[in-house]
Amino acid sequence: MLEAIKNYELKHKNLRLVEVTTKNYWELGFLKTKRSQAKFVGPNFYGMAYAYATVAEGKFAAVFGIYDGETPVGYAMVGHNSYDYEGCPEVCKHSYDLWRLMIDKHYQKKGYGKDATKLLLDYMLTFPDGEEDMLTTSYEEGNVVAKKLYESFGFVSNGEISHGEVTMVLPLK
Ligand SMILES: CC(C)(COP(=O)(O)OP(=O)(O)OC[C@H]1O[C@@H](n2cnc3c(N)ncnc32)[C@H](O)[C@@H]1OP(=O)(O)O)[C@@H](O)C(=O)NCCC(=O)NCCS
Repeated sequence: MLEAIKNYELKHKNLRLVEVTTKNYWELGFLKTKRSQAKFVGPNFYGMAYAYATVAEGKFAAVFGIYDGETPVGYAMVGHNSYDYEGCPEVCKHSYDLWRLMIDKHYQKKGYGKDATKLLLDYMLTFPDGEEDMLTTSYEEGNVVAKKLYESFGFVSNGEISHGEVTMVLPLK
């Protein structure tokens, strides 16, 4: 089940996840997708604010800059049982969720998205907030790049669509 994650080799050997702090907040906040992709993911500053509010409520949110060496190329968030909004997919209440992922428009189509997904999945599989038997993610309907990216690591749709987002699952057991 996890072979695709385990066997994946990074194209960018210096790619790493760096926690968001006051030191890198602005450079990560201002990273941008292409205008045509704005419908797929909100601005990074909104994501960081939401993560702050999530943690303030005592729930889990991990927020990362994606760096190639010292160069910020993207931004991502991971949650764990963090959602309880109306219509929230039931499966996301018992999973580590790849919540947001973006690669800045200047660095797209170079393999960073796939490499970053590998690093994020490895991180999720360390179960930083306690063990779980499911990974989840989602993509906005029509986002064929994200669909293909997540499928390449073994995620499949579970048929649920919430607020226009297709839920994807990767059972661990
Ligand atoms: C989705 C996203 C993170 C991918 O990042 P990326 O660095 O461009 O992806 P990669 O270069 O690693 O490419 C991954 C695959 O998608 C393909 N791909 C990337 N951009 C593409 C495009 N615009 N059109 C067609 N294929 C594309 C690549 O060819 C590659 O395919 P392969 O695995 O067969 O080689 C990036 O496009 C993005 O930030 N999109 C906006 C936000 C978003 O949609 N986030 C995901 C859902 S929250």
